[in-house]
Amino acid sequence: MQLTPLQHLFPTAAATTTAAATPKDNTKNTISIILATAFFALLFLITLSSSSTSSSFSITSSSALTRPDPRLFPAHQSPFAKIPSDPTPPSIAYLISGSKGDSGRVLRLLYATYHPKNLYLLHLDLFAPQAERDRLAITVQSVPIFRAAQNVNVIGKADFAYSKGSSAISATLHGAAILLKLSKNWDWFVNLGAGDYPLVTQDDLLHIFSYLPKDFNFVNHTSYIGWRESKRLKPIIVDPGLYLSQKTQMFYATQKRELPNAFRLFTGSSFSILSRNFMEHCILAADNLPRILLMYFSNTPSSLSNYFPTVLCNCRQFSKTIINHNLQYLAFEKSPSRQVPHTLNSSEFDSMIRSGAAFATEFRFDDSVLDRIDQEILGRKPGHVVPGGWCLDGEPGNVTCSVWGDADVLRPGPATARLEELMLKLLSNGEYRSRQCIVE
Ligand SMILES: *[C@@H]1O[C@H](CO)[C@@H](O)[C@H](O)[C@H]1NC(C)=O
Ligand SMILES: *[C@@H]1O[C@H](CO)[C@@H](O)[C@H](O)[C@H]1NC(C)=O
Ligand SMILES: *[C@@H]1O[C@H](CO)[C@@H](O)[C@H](O)[C@H]1NC(C)=O
Repeated sequence: MQLTPLQHLFPTAAATTTAAATPKDNTKNTISIILATAFFALLFLITLSSSSTSSSFSITSSSALTRPDPRLFPAHQSPFAKIPSDPTPPSIAYLISGSKGDSGRVLRLLYATYHPKNLYLLHLDLFAPQAERDRLAITVQSVPIFRAAQNVNVIGKADFAYSKGSSAISATLHGAAILLKLSKNWDWFVNLGAGDYPLVTQDDLLHIFSYLPKDFNFVNHTSYIGWRESKRLKPIIVDPGLYLSQKTQMFYATQKRELPNAFRLFTGSSFSILSRNFMEHCILAADNLPRILLMYFSNTPSSLSNYFPTVLCNCRQFSKTIINHNLQYLAFEKSPSRQVPHTLNSSEFDSMIRSGAAFATEFRFDDSVLDRIDQEILGRKPGHVVPGGWCLDGEPGNVTCSVWGDADVLRPGPATARLEELMLKLLSNGEYRSRQCIVE
């Protein structure tokens, strides 16, 4: 692979990850692996015993208390296995959320974004009946690769997530908290909705991300408020998802309130790619700002799109880690008053691909353009995961991933070059710094 440009931008990122595997560190590694295993065993017990007290299971894991399949993770078996020449691939934690009737889309999105190195948490919100959630969990358990890698989980005790309110923030933080507990090994958090779809394979994405500093956050943000002032920031709402157990209308107060001046508001989009460090800050930090903002935004419409940008930009520790692009393609309706995203179809296939974005939104259920993305970009067959370097079976073009190899071996495809080009555009000459948390 000709990744010199990115390598050139971040020589230290590549150097540190490679150095971590030198034989000198092996005893330390072995000890931490043993400790991590003990920690996981404990966690699963906690989850299992707490779930037996509630009416339904709280988390289903593919098979608790056993190790993942050694064919996928040979390096876990022998610390002397290999010293990689490329940086070790990172791992991404995905929260994939849907609502009533979305289990088919959630499952398709799981297949399309699947990689054994990643971690997945599926959430069907409380608008979906429990039977749909249980069925999804049973389907997931029946897929051999999910069972072998032990990295797909379904939330059994769901939350309400009103996208027009603030319960969506609570559901997202809940998902991130579970993912933090489930594994110490992931590096970025990505929250996908049922209407999203990837435009690159995970081998492409993990390959490019292996050259990036692990503290980068990809978040659209602006302090320019515009039409949002009257529609999104001054109205006071009460989200029924936070206190009523059946579906109801959002409650709007008649009065409006001042814009805050104790911190600066930033608005953005609900999709973002967030570092593990930052998620730990939002959930566990001694700094109180994440909680203060959580309470402030609980009475603001559509606040998921404002919460993460505002926390990031008001924190000196994180405001320099933010890239003002979430790597997601979306197209806006041409409307004079404000921008409304529209659903994508095959007429936009080319501009979607040309954009170099890693994800796109929003698609209709089983739209034909998704089949085209599967065939031409992901090489995915219906009902199968996207083939990667870990799939050792089949002819090219007919890989079903039923024979497994080392998950650290990536096989990036043609989409890598497009994502790399976008990344270089965003990062070269340190230009991204001039677009970080600008006060307008
Ligand atoms: C996010 O920012 C990028 C770059 O500025 C832009 O192309 C994209 O449309 C933005 N997305 C949203 C949801 O505003
Ligand atoms: C695709 O979307 C565009 C813009 O929303 C619309 O004008 C066009 O008719 C759609 N095409 C199909 C095939 O649905
Ligand atoms: C693809 O592979 C499967 C199993 O490996 C095999 O049964 C099938 O015949 C192959 N199809 C083609 C078109 O080669």
